[in-house]
Amino acid sequence: MTIETRSLSDTEIRGIAARIDRPVVLVGMMGVGKSTIGRKLAQLLGLPFHDADDEIEKAAQLSIAEIFERFGEAHFRDGERRVIARLLEGGPGVLATGGGAFVQPETRALIHRKGIAVWLDSDVATLVDRVTRKDSRPLLRGGDPKEIVARLKAEREAAYAEAPIKVMSDAGPHGEAINRILKALNEWL
Ligand code: S3P
Repeated sequence: MTIETRSLSDTEIRGIAARIDRPVVLVGMMGVGKSTIGRKLAQLLGLPFHDADDEIEKAAQLSIAEIFERFGEAHFRDGERRVIARLLEGGPGVLATGGGAFVQPETRALIHRKGIAVWLDSDVATLVDRVTRKDSRPLLRGGDPKEIVARLKAEREAAYAEAPIKVMSDAGPHGEAINRILKALNEWL
């Protein structure tokens, strides 16, 4: 078994969790698996998990699609930044952010200051496969998902690349991506 695929032991994971002193913030494209991976990662580490998009919906009492429709993207980004600022004050934990959050300069600066950003990346085909399973994302409405995902990924990559940690989240089960995040955190902390 290579180092890459070896799972960490419970003791190693506890050791990593003990060194996490601020939120681990998952950033990257829609469909990469930030929420699913984040929830499982938090569970393994024994830390609280928050999903910024869920918290925005709770605060607004509206779905993300409704916020975009009624108030537009700029209003959504404003609320997103405020919700993320609040969640970053919560101490050690795992925070999944929406795909555009880390692209906004102010939100990105906040995350750099208060959290550890982890860029989860996949190829376009995997992202498209995952995002086309549900129709809840306003940025994908009214266009070809493959074209939109490829364009957004190209536009956003420079911002995502500012994250100190980058992990690939390939097609298939999320366990391997979680393992990679744990190992990267182990080296980085
Ligand atoms: C967005 C991604 C979505 C959500 C909103 C905008 C984006 O989150 O925040 O629809 O700009 O990429 P996910 O990355 O969880 O899909």
